[in-house]
Amino acid sequence: MNKFISVHDVPDIPGMVQKALAYKAAPLKDKTLGQNKRIGLLFLNPSMRTRLSTQVAAQNLGMECIVFNAGQDGWALEFEEEAIMSGNTVEHVKDAAPILGKYFDILCIRTFPSLKNRDDDYSELYINQFIKYAGIPVVSLESATLHPLQSLTDIITITENYTAQRRPKIVLTWAPHVKPLPQCVANSFSQWVNAWGQADFVITHPEDYELHPDFTKGATITHNQDEALKDADFVYVKNWSTFNDYGRIYCNDPSWMLNNEKLRLTNNAKVMHCLPVRRNVELSDEILDGPNSIVTQEAANRVWAAQAVLSEILKGI
Ligand code: CP
Repeated sequence: MNKFISVHDVPDIPGMVQKALAYKAAPLKDKTLGQNKRIGLLFLNPSMRTRLSTQVAAQNLGMECIVFNAGQDGWALEFEEEAIMSGNTVEHVKDAAPILGKYFDILCIRTFPSLKNRDDDYSELYINQFIKYAGIPVVSLESATLHPLQSLTDIITITENYTAQRRPKIVLTWAPHVKPLPQCVANSFSQWVNAWGQADFVITHPEDYELHPDFTKGATITHNQDEALKDADFVYVKNWSTFNDYGRIYCNDPSWMLNNEKLRLTNNAKVMHCLPVRRNVELSDEILDGPNSIVTQEAANRVWAAQAVLSEILKGI
């Protein structure tokens, strides 16, 4: 593996899940694999779980890890080709990225969408420019439209929590929020569950909250949340902003928030969320503090997903 940007970089999802679970059972079993290798984590926006879990994963593999809050402490980067840099940007990515490629063996980047121009965001210019100019393997720590380390974690967590012989029913449900949020987590979860192919997958959201069909193709999509929740084994809760009239909030109907009454429609479903979560807006206290929530286990599994991915990349460098 020479990059990790989306599910398309993973030829064997169940194999990757098993690799991650093996690291969970024995975190230091490959503690010298990354010896004398250095990894850089660049953040253009905030993070807790992604930043810390990737650091822990890198250290478990014996790598030296350097974190740079580029969005806060670095020069403002320009990403457009042939830009006339007379505005606020100070350094072009085609100058910065090759230098990072000399400092590090693996470069991990968290970028973000503008939520202003859909075509720009979905072109993934930021992360693609780093891939183009860094000259070393690039790992997405969340990009403008996808969050692959989160999604691998989610498949790992579902695998751990499901023991029945039949296919699980997984429901991705939209939830209310006070701010327009990216579509990354929902896109990425959809992409991975569809590619994994081992579940009946239903997506439910209010009208106007469609996701990009490239990611949802294969799922059943409905605006009826109660219908969707029926007999679900897993409910993945996430807010996202509108896709067609891009980056807006059209609905904030609190009845879309999952609570114990709605949970009774399910097959005693496990409830997931990538975190951070706005309590009693996106998800109720009674769910988050109740026995069906697996959000802490899910977040803890971020380490093993990152470790599995980094070890695959280390094998090739
Ligand atoms: N889920 C997730 O990516 O969390 P952070 O934003 O804290 O990294």
